[in-house]
Amino acid sequence: MFDVAKIRQDFPVLKRMMEDKPLIYFDNAATTFKPQAVIDAVTNYYVNESVNIHRGDYALSHDVSNHFDNVRKQVADFIGASQKEIVFTSGASEALNIVANGYGMKYLKEGDVILTTEAEHASNILPWFNVAKKTGAIVEYIPMDSEGRLTIEDVQSVLHNRVKVIVIAHVSNVLGYVNPMKEISQLAHEIGAIVVCDGAQSVAHMPIDVKNLDVDFFGFSAHKMCGPTGVGVLYGKYELLEMSDPLLYGGGSNARFNTCGDVLLKHSPDKYESGTRNIEGVLGFGAAIEYLDSIGMEKIAEIERELHQYLMSKLKELDNLIIYNPEADTAITAFNVKGIFAQDVAAYLSTFGIACRAGNHCAKILLEVLGTNETLRCSLYFYNTKEEIDTFVDVLKDITLEKTIDMYL
Ligand code: ALA
Repeated sequence: MFDVAKIRQDFPVLKRMMEDKPLIYFDNAATTFKPQAVIDAVTNYYVNESVNIHRGDYALSHDVSNHFDNVRKQVADFIGASQKEIVFTSGASEALNIVANGYGMKYLKEGDVILTTEAEHASNILPWFNVAKKTGAIVEYIPMDSEGRLTIEDVQSVLHNRVKVIVIAHVSNVLGYVNPMKEISQLAHEIGAIVVCDGAQSVAHMPIDVKNLDVDFFGFSAHKMCGPTGVGVLYGKYELLEMSDPLLYGGGSNARFNTCGDVLLKHSPDKYESGTRNIEGVLGFGAAIEYLDSIGMEKIAEIERELHQYLMSKLKELDNLIIYNPEADTAITAFNVKGIFAQDVAAYLSTFGIACRAGNHCAKILLEVLGTNETLRCSLYFYNTKEEIDTFVDVLKDITLEKTIDMYL
């Protein structure tokens, strides 16, 4: 039985006040809060272990190495992959950059097409702009409707045999739509293209099975799923990881090298993990996965659906808002208050202890499609409550331009 009051006790930061008001955190798409178990796992490493891994011939190093390797197994089980397909990175951005550099730069050539959408987050599209510039490949876009949603028919309409890579987020970080990755993968594979999927906004919110989605690469960050910052994952089909190049070269990734510069790299995932990894971050990530598993990803998705429906039912009663994605599939809502600059609304909300992101959310092309320069974004997670939503809606109901100006006086 899910008891949100009990769950909230697990997150120390949820107890803090913003001056005299409880913190209401609705910026979960940017990062999520960490339960005590994750904080303990990180500090335990520093207090009780603090040694390097995979290099020390002593018991403590063996123990920490085993713990680190077990987290790889946890991650693999969490997304339905095998351990050798899980590469630890610094986050989703590094994961997606590895693919662009290690696969795109190596295999794309002039005239090849990288197919993507206008809704992509910078971390998923800028690396491919770079590939296009350096290889002569061309970036093309899948059309979306005026609400920023795409269908499988939209994808079909722009597929052709020069498309070599489809780059797409599983869930848009601004609009919260779930893209039909399984169907996209099937279409891509029929023409010999691969699918690179940014999973940063999906893996924390729903059960994921990469084999079922059949995506070729999938990147995500631990900090968006209750884990520490500075850790992420690149999942890749093993044969693709084997044929791609790493971004970093250094200790731990090679079997041998000589004075002529011949380097024999190890197999995946080691070949991608040069240097000392973020050991405490990975151990904390393991605790985060254990925590999410203890609630269950189906349950988390269900709770978020319920919170989102509640939020939408309340927001739709207000006539001073423009909501860009009323039919979002996840608990992300992009909106504006009519006649008030989004950043001023965010600052005003903050005076009530409410944290909401405003701006372009690193998806700069999308806002052209939506016809606005910026939006507010409210993104919920399982530890949010209906009472928090009520406070949020009450503040939005009463907001006026004058009040936001007064705030600065
Ligand atoms: N990518 C994160 C966001 O959407 C930072 O806010």
